[in-house]
Amino acid sequence: MMSTRRYLIAANWKMHKTLEEARALAREVRRGLTWGLKAEVALAPPFTALAAVAGELADSDLRLAGQDAFWERQGAYTGAISPMMLKDAGCHYVIIGHSERRQYFGETDHTVNRKLKAVLEVGLCPICCIGESLEEREKGQTLARVGQQLEVGLAEMGSLTGEQLVLAYEPVWAIGTGLTATPQQAQEVHAFIRSRLRELLHAAAEEVRILYGGSVTPDNAATLMAETDIDGALVGGASLKSASFLGIITAAG
Ligand code: PGA
Repeated sequence: MMSTRRYLIAANWKMHKTLEEARALAREVRRGLTWGLKAEVALAPPFTALAAVAGELADSDLRLAGQDAFWERQGAYTGAISPMMLKDAGCHYVIIGHSERRQYFGETDHTVNRKLKAVLEVGLCPICCIGESLEEREKGQTLARVGQQLEVGLAEMGSLTGEQLVLAYEPVWAIGTGLTATPQQAQEVHAFIRSRLRELLHAAAEEVRILYGGSVTPDNAATLMAETDIDGALVGGASLKSASFLGIITAAG
């Protein structure tokens, strides 16, 4: 990783944790962090646990994140949560375009673009997820797919600074499967993403952090993050227990 980009290790708890479990895990992560940490750490609990986790993280450097947001500010949109509400709940980050949102909730590159704009408007930092399916990888379409997700997702974004955006490359075939991309496979795509970002965002591209996600564990985190363009991890399964999540944070140095 380039020295100017600070690693970000983000926990995506997905649809896990009751209030009591969420509080306990947040507390354990907070207590387990050592002083002088190189990496930035963020927790994305389910919406119901945001306030409880915010309480546990108060007066710490740990960041709170939402798992999704709708693009409208408020209105008759049953079941939806707006970026403004997430900001109000204490979030700094919000995950947008996760492959599970694309697969189960009809998210498209176009809706990702609308959400990104709405999130940026209220001053939240999106963690925008992109990645190819197994079929796309096997057909040799990985870079084309990821390029399209970037181009449509980041369309009409205006000028952005490097701190306003985080990307997460998550090959769909590696999420929750135990199949991790090799560091070389991941770096190839991360380098491609960086080169496309240079065209879209110019100098800011050097500051945008590109996380890897998909079966990250304490055992594979260090070699993945040693790659030039891998600036941290978006962690699902291994973030549900403090020991494995802290192990990944430690691997970031
Ligand atoms: P996983 O999930 O670590 O369980 O593969 C990663 C993600 O979906 O963000």
